[in-house]
Amino acid sequence: MAIISSKKQPQEPDGQPKRRRESAKEHTSPKAAAIEDLLQPQATPDEQSKQEESIRPQRFADYIGQKDLKDVLDIAIKAAKARGETLDHLLLYGPPGLGKTTMSLILATEMGVDCKITSAPALERPRDIVGLLMSLKPGDILFIDEIHRLSRMTEEILYPAMEDYRVDITIGKGSSAKTRSISLPRFTLVGATTRMGALTSPLRDRFGLIQRLRFYEPDELSQIVLRTAQLLQVTITDDGAEEVARRSRGTPRIANRLLKRVRDYAQVKSAKLISQDVAAQALELFQVDPCGLDWTDRCLLRAMISQFNGGPVGVETMAAATGEDTQTIEEVYEPYLMQIGYLHRTPRGRIATPSAYKHLGFTPPNEQLSLLP
Ligand code: ADE
Repeated sequence: MAIISSKKQPQEPDGQPKRRRESAKEHTSPKAAAIEDLLQPQATPDEQSKQEESIRPQRFADYIGQKDLKDVLDIAIKAAKARGETLDHLLLYGPPGLGKTTMSLILATEMGVDCKITSAPALERPRDIVGLLMSLKPGDILFIDEIHRLSRMTEEILYPAMEDYRVDITIGKGSSAKTRSISLPRFTLVGATTRMGALTSPLRDRFGLIQRLRFYEPDELSQIVLRTAQLLQVTITDDGAEEVARRSRGTPRIANRLLKRVRDYAQVKSAKLISQDVAAQALELFQVDPCGLDWTDRCLLRAMISQFNGGPVGVETMAAATGEDTQTIEEVYEPYLMQIGYLHRTPRGRIATPSAYKHLGFTPPNEQLSLLP
């Protein structure tokens, strides 16, 4: 088990490079694979490095976007501090790359406590979670990423820990086994998941606060790009930042990644400043679509349009037609395609919208309009 503490040198939550999104389909070429990786919302090993930590916002005041979430957490922090209590357990859900870990680290800073970070796959054995719980100090935050992947045993150890701040340990085996309860300091569990629906209800019910992270608006992403550019000492114009933001799938992690590729391009081309033109040229070179669509997004939309007349089509059918797995379609691709208005989910299945037709160079049939809600 590997954990990190907010006051020690941060590293990868479970000590392993995170599994990147994998699909059953083949990439057309290594270049296409590398390009597609640019638009993956999951963190690369590089992005879990120390240098990356230097661009992570440390306080609410530096954190751009997620206003509703910040407002809720600000009240929770002020109330907990005024009462001299710990924060309620908090569940954060939403697509990857939107800042769940960052938010947890900020909460710890704002509360003046430590944050220990781990992820469910690193908590395989009961002793992993017990050891971690027993290492907490009063008020500390324990962040568990991918919390929907906890094993049943680990989850059952968490129930009394969350509710009564105790761990029950069984010593011995069979008829001579004895259970001992050990008290824990009051702590806050912050769980993060991309799959709210995959959480068991006993676990979900033990969180006092359940909050969703949304995709960022283009102007919020532009501000993030400008902030990161300043920290990296890169000169970029406002419209250069907007160009990067537009192609970043509503995701800060992707925006910061694209900014770094644009910075390389500007350096090699001896451009002193990243203007809109320079950003657009660089991103075209990396084949980043003007709306941030990647190969799989386009493949999904194209299949819907050319094989299923734009829908309605079931997600299982889309998975079979494209070689992508259903869960990835539902959790990674559809949320962004819905956000930009290219796809609708209806009770009869998924529908490609006229904007999706136009983006891919197709003419939307009239009857497609009548299917939209
Ligand atoms: N870098 C990544 N996410 C950010 C955010 N929400 N605000 C500021 N900088 C960021």
